[in-house]
This record gives sequence, C-alpha cells and structure tokens, in this order.
Amino acid sequence: MNVIFMGPPGAGKGTQAEAIVNEFQIPHISTGDAFRLAMKQETVLGLEAKKYVDQGLLVSDEITIGIVKERLQLPDCKNGFLLDGFPRTISQAEALDEIMVSLGTSIDHVINLHVDRSLLLARLTGRRICKSCGATYHILFNPPQTEQVCDKCSGELYQRSDDTEEKVGTRLDEYLNKTAPLLSYYRNKGNLREVNGEQEINTVAAQISLLLRGQA
Ligand code: AP5
Ligand code: ZN
Repeated sequence: MNVIFMGPPGAGKGTQAEAIVNEFQIPHISTGDAFRLAMKQETVLGLEAKKYVDQGLLVSDEITIGIVKERLQLPDCKNGFLLDGFPRTISQAEALDEIMVSLGTSIDHVINLHVDRSLLLARLTGRRICKSCGATYHILFNPPQTEQVCDKCSGELYQRSDDTEEKVGTRLDEYLNKTAPLLSYYRNKGNLREVNGEQEINTVAAQISLLLRGQA
C-alpha cells in the first residue's frame, strides 16, 4: 500500500504516521526528517538544505526529488510506503508519478489532514520532539508524563529550530502558495481523501486506518 500524507505544517502528519507505519508495517519516508538528519550530520546535502529549512522555505525540487527517488528504490519500499511531506509542489508530484511508473507501481491513497490555520501556530510552537526516538509531543495537547522526557525511551525532548512564530508564518505561506495547489492535482486523479485533523489524535488515527483499509 502506497500512501501520501498531505496537510499544512502542524496538521499532524508526523503524529499520525507513527501509528500508521506500525499498523501497516510500511516505511515512513519524511523528507523533513531526512533533511534534519543531514543537517545534524553536516553532510553536503545538509548544509545546502539548512539554507532553506532554517528560513522556513522549501528546499529546491531538484534536491528533494533526488532524495525521494533514491529512497523509494530501496527494497523495503516494495510492499508499500508512507510519504510524509512529499510531494509539496506540482513539479514534485509529476516527478513522483514518473518514479511510480518506473517502479511499476502507483499511489493508492492521498490523505489530506485539514486543520484551520488559526490552530497551527499553537500546535507548532508547543511541539516537542524526542532527541533519541523522534516521538512527537505537545506541551498542552499531548504532553509527556514527565516534563521534557520521552515516555517511550526516556530521551530528552527538544524544540525544532523552525518552530518559532516567525518561521511558522513563512512555512504556512509556502504551504499556501506552493503546496495547497496540489490538492486539486490529486482530487482530479480521484484518490484524495479528506480527514478532519482538528479532532483528537486517536480519532484522527482511527479514521485514517478505516480509510486505508477501504472501510470508510
Ligand atoms: P517537515 O518536517 O515536513 O515539516 P512540516 O510539513 O512543516 O510539517 P510538520 O512536521 O511541522 O508538521 P506535522 O504535520 O508533521 O505535525 P505533527 O504531527 O508534528 O518539513 C520541514 C522543512 O523541511 C520544510 O519547511 C522545508 O524546508 C523542508 N522540506 C520538507 N519536505 C520538503 C519538500 N517535499 N520539498 C521542499 N522542502 C521540504 O504535529 C504538530 C504538533 O501538533 C505536535 O506537537 C503534535 O503533538 C500536535 N498534534 C498533532 N495532532 C494533533 C491533534 N489531533 N490534536 C492536538 N494536537 C495535535
Ligand atoms: Zn523517545
């Protein structure tokens, strides 16, 4: 099963991906995570990506498409994958179509998590992430049992450098200008499914699971 999660920054793509990849045993491919890892390791890719990510801007299509193309060719994607944060431009979506043809497969589901812009700022500025296992929390909406400590692995929690108010504004503008037009691209193809991402985390997860199982 090949799935794409779409939605604005803070819609809950990463949070929902944690549950879905466990349930369906498919790899979680997050371009944002790939860029953050490369930035941490200070690779050539990381240094280039940092120029954009730190400003809340999208990394170039050429670089981003190259990473995803390479990743999708790995054997663990043969039985399906979950793309989180890709594609984000029409060019990326067209490139993905070509990659799918070359691999002899196709996208089964595009899930769009809808959350009103007014909620996104609070979600992003309150987000905390585990340094060790990557689990996502929110200081108010999904707090860990012990402040600043991951429930799953006792790792330390940190705040992403692009989760400041100013950068969130730029990221939301990038979404509106470059990514939102993709919704009609997938709507026209007939595989876009809308989910209300403003509901409780578990409710959203249950709805996505039903959609992917073809039961909704
Ligand atoms: P990326 O890492 O993809 O960030 P994003 O799209 O901005 O998405 P986020 O990770 O911020 O949000 P999310 O939807 O995963 O929300 P989450 O589940 O964490 O990209 C980062 C950067 O990398 C980009 O700005 C760009 O520079 C670059 N990049 C990445 N992909 C690219 C591409 N394809 N092309 C070019 N550049 C690219 O939830 C947010 C918070 O809300 C959490 O605290 C969570 O606990 C809480 N929450 C979640 N769900 C709920 C709920 N239902 N109720 C209450 N709280 C909730
Ligand atoms: Zn952890």
